[in-house]
Amino acid sequence: MEKRQIKVTVNGEPRLVDVEPRLLLVHLLREGLGLTGTHIGCDTTSCGACTVLFDGQPVKSCTMLAVQTDGHEVTTVEGLAKASELDPVQEGFKEEHALQCGFCTSGMMMSAKALLMEKPNPTEEDVRWALSGNLCRCTGYQNIVKAVLWAAKKMQSEAAV
Ligand code: FES
Ligand code: FES
Repeated sequence: MEKRQIKVTVNGEPRLVDVEPRLLLVHLLREGLGLTGTHIGCDTTSCGACTVLFDGQPVKSCTMLAVQTDGHEVTTVEGLAKASELDPVQEGFKEEHALQCGFCTSGMMMSAKALLMEKPNPTEEDVRWALSGNLCRCTGYQNIVKAVLWAAKKMQSEAAV
C-alpha cells in the first residue's frame, strides 16, 4: 500500500514519518517511534491502555489512524516527565501506590493529565468520570483516584508559590 508522509509533533519533537493510510496511531507510536509506554490492551476502544493526548485531548490511539495526526501534536506517557523531574501525576501514582501490574498506568496517567489541564481542582466525582474510559484489571481504582487528587493538590501548591 502506498505510504504518505506526515508531520506530527510527538512529545514536543517534530517528526516526519511515512505511514500507510491504514496504520493505527498506537502502532506508529510503539513500532514506528519506539514509544512503548503506550500499551495495547484490547484493540477495540474498551480498555484505555492506549490513551495519549491529541492536541491536549485524551484519545484512544488504537482507534485513530496515524495519518489523522498530520499537522497535530501527540503526547505520550514518555512526554510527561521534564528532564529528571516527574510530572505531578506520575508523582501522585508513586505516592499513593496507584499501580499493581502497571499495564493500565500510562493510559490512566494520560487521562488524568488531560483532566488536570482542563480542571486543576477536580472533585473525586470528576476524577472518576475522567477515568471512566480506562480499565484496571488489577482493580486498583481507589488508589488511582487518590493519586490524581494528590497531583491536583501538588499542582495547586506549586501554582501558589
Ligand atoms: Fe485501545 Fe484498549 S487498546 S482502548
Ligand atoms: Fe494492573 Fe491496572 S495496575 S491493570
